Amino acid sequence: MLVSTRQMLLNAQKEGYAVPAFNIHNLETIQVVVETANEMRSPVILAATPSTVKYAGIEYLMSMIETASNKYDIPIAFHLDHHENVEDIKTAIRLGCKSVMIDASHHAFEDNIKIVKDIVDFAHKYDVTVEAELGKLGGQEDDLIVDEKDSFYTDPLSAVEFVNQTGVDSLAIAIGTAHGLYKVEPKLDYDRLKEIKKLVSIPLVLHGASGVPFDSVRETVKEGICKVNIATELKIPFATSLKDFFENNPNESDPRKYLVPAKDAMKAVVMNKIDMCKSSKRV
Ligand code: 13P
Ligand code: ZN
Ligand code: NA
Repeated sequence: MLVSTRQMLLNAQKEGYAVPAFNIHNLETIQVVVETANEMRSPVILAATPSTVKYAGIEYLMSMIETASNKYDIPIAFHLDHHENVEDIKTAIRLGCKSVMIDASHHAFEDNIKIVKDIVDFAHKYDVTVEAELGKLGGQEDDLIVDEKDSFYTDPLSAVEFVNQTGVDSLAIAIGTAHGLYKVEPKLDYDRLKEIKKLVSIPLVLHGASGVPFDSVRETVKEGICKVNIATELKIPFATSLKDFFENNPNESDPRKYLVPAKDAMKAVVMNKIDMCKSSKRV
């Protein structure tokens, strides 16, 4: 059965770790994430952006993840990541999806509230958890591209008002991370995180974790981040491995051969990120 992220994130909040949310794209990436999480006894979230849903199909994604969650006795959730289209989210919820992000962070504050509240009211009827974003991350996540100059950090007092008015279950905040890799090491605004944490009781989410040093993410977890999103750093080793494989084996065509080292390369990163989130041995 697909489960919401409510209990997972509340457990993480209580115990002082973060649940890693890995962006997956197909059977192989789902397998790597759940097998590794199971070996490390970590709860895990499998996240799909709109372009992943478009590529793989919502029913395929949901049934593969449902199969994974029946196969392993760790908490596994399927989560819609960075969805903006209200109708797409509602369709996914009607199909059984239990955890969604409505990303209206590029809208004005009042509009963001209105759009998020509409989804929260709908989702809660289905016992679905909702994540929203306040502030705006720079960088690129699939088709979502935000120029650095258009990004802005989350204001702590606005966060309180946002959470109270929307009834949202978890909040993605902007404290200096960006989607994708970084040209220079990001400077995270830990004071802002502490301030938000003091004022807001729901679980806080860190997006854009690829390229952020291990210890910096650890510090955000210590200060109250309960979910960490990782995409780019999983894609790179998978693709690099494939490129190397075909360079060394130009005549190979068997996916059961060339996908294996790609999965192994991705697995090493998943292990490191679970460790970074301090989520291993939690189940
Ligand atoms: P990265 O690609 O920087 O890991 O960002 C992932 C993310 O925030 C997915 O929502
Ligand atoms: Zn993100
Ligand atoms: Na990043």
